[in-house]
Amino acid sequence: MNPFRADTPNDKTPEPATIVIFGASGDLTKRKLIPAIYNLLIGRHLSRVAIVGTSRTVMSDDDFRESSLDGINKYSRQRPVDERVWSTLSRSIHYHPGAFDDPAAFVRLRERLEVIEKQHHLPANRLFYLSTPPSAFAPIIRNLGAAGLVRPGENPFARVIVEKPFGTDLASAIDLNRDVHEVLKESQIFRIDHYLGKETVQNLLVFRFANGIFEPLWNNKYVDHVQITGAETLGVERRGAYFDHAGILRDMVQNHLFQVLCLAALEPPGSFKANAVRDEKLKVLEALRPIEPEQLEERVIRAQYLSGSVLGAQVPGYREEEGVGKESQTETFVALKLFIDNWRWGGVPFYLRSAKRMPKRVTEVAIHFKNVPHRLFAGADGGPNVLAIRIQPDEGITMSIGSKVPGQALEIAPVTMEFRYASSFGVEAPEAYERLLLDALAGDGTLFTRGDEVEASWRFITPIHQAWLSGKGKMHGYEAGSWGPDASTQLLGKDGRAWRRP
Ligand code: BG6
Repeated sequence: MNPFRADTPNDKTPEPATIVIFGASGDLTKRKLIPAIYNLLIGRHLSRVAIVGTSRTVMSDDDFRESSLDGINKYSRQRPVDERVWSTLSRSIHYHPGAFDDPAAFVRLRERLEVIEKQHHLPANRLFYLSTPPSAFAPIIRNLGAAGLVRPGENPFARVIVEKPFGTDLASAIDLNRDVHEVLKESQIFRIDHYLGKETVQNLLVFRFANGIFEPLWNNKYVDHVQITGAETLGVERRGAYFDHAGILRDMVQNHLFQVLCLAALEPPGSFKANAVRDEKLKVLEALRPIEPEQLEERVIRAQYLSGSVLGAQVPGYREEEGVGKESQTETFVALKLFIDNWRWGGVPFYLRSAKRMPKRVTEVAIHFKNVPHRLFAGADGGPNVLAIRIQPDEGITMSIGSKVPGQALEIAPVTMEFRYASSFGVEAPEAYERLLLDALAGDGTLFTRGDEVEASWRFITPIHQAWLSGKGKMHGYEAGSWGPDASTQLLGKDGRAWRRP
């Protein structure tokens, strides 16, 4: 039996529950999780909840409440703090110190949860959020199981959210999946990829499957190639030590960009149920043509940023960043030429690039359509039609088309049709973590990655990373604030194409 298949309900009304956050003294809890819960309460999306923070750090309930309020004050989407909502929330916030590798601490946690649930009249529904270093995932899940905290069954439910990264290569992802499945059913585990929580990423599916006019064009008959860009102006900030072990291929492409790729390329699922969507994503990942070590130079470009200027500020080179080795061979830029070997996409290149220290922050999918079969207007050309789905920032969709320039001459120029979320809807989109927490509480795994998907993406990524480790694949340099090395321009240039300047 495939352990990954298990259907989950698609009902967004969560039952009352307790959210237990492991790694509660960390940055993510303060910046994202507590503000997300607060915003869900403001929007009246949650029924009753209690929050129990836990980590090694010794602090009191009041200390944790204070740090939570600080997080809301600084990072909440909706501010200033609504006193009434905060006073309800603060009463349901608790803290319980304990070590991840101490089985006795989990027995004490269970006893504490029983007391808290009684106090708040809550059923024993529990959502465990693992916001810890990845090395703690397996021990925590094992200890949760041993303490009887995660029995199977939906009533009451016990679910576990795991932060990224889920493994660092194929072997570690398989090991982690095995450890997880020793204790949990696949339907109890929610692997986070916060890109799936972004409204605009979800809109990729709506755009494709709620409109009749695009899908007939969405294939190798009409599409020349696809470009997916995930560019950041930021460098490695204070995460140099982490990043130097990861690199952009594993930090961004294996998860976020591949999820975006899957949603852009998948076949229409039969329903919007978790496994129907995830089955189709898996097929895309499995259809990716592997990159053999001898093809590395022609299909993958890696590079590191050198010093330069980004958004008007002078910034150091990657190897001068804190926590980064002076001889580091970790890439901060990667561009790949991919093929999805199936009926729909046969022969259509998918060019992906992701990097730190680019001139602009932009995540987008751009579908470049084929040129007209016959040029009627000799010499005059509006350029190919490009449909660009902007995931962030300036969320929206643009379509470039050729149009006649007013005047007596037959001159054609590209113009754009534009849809912008901000002007069309005028409301702020919820944060990714709000959506993901709500879905996990409701038991809906559609926007979480399934174990087999994670393994499939590592199966593709790991050989590239290993080839780099063995010294294959030139490391290029690029000036911070540029769009990457010349080799990246040539990756498309030799195919007669060019990267978009978003
Ligand atoms: C994280 C990566 O998963 O995603 C970071 O570890 C990256 O390196 C971040 O900066 C990008 O997320 P977003 O939502 O800002 O595009």
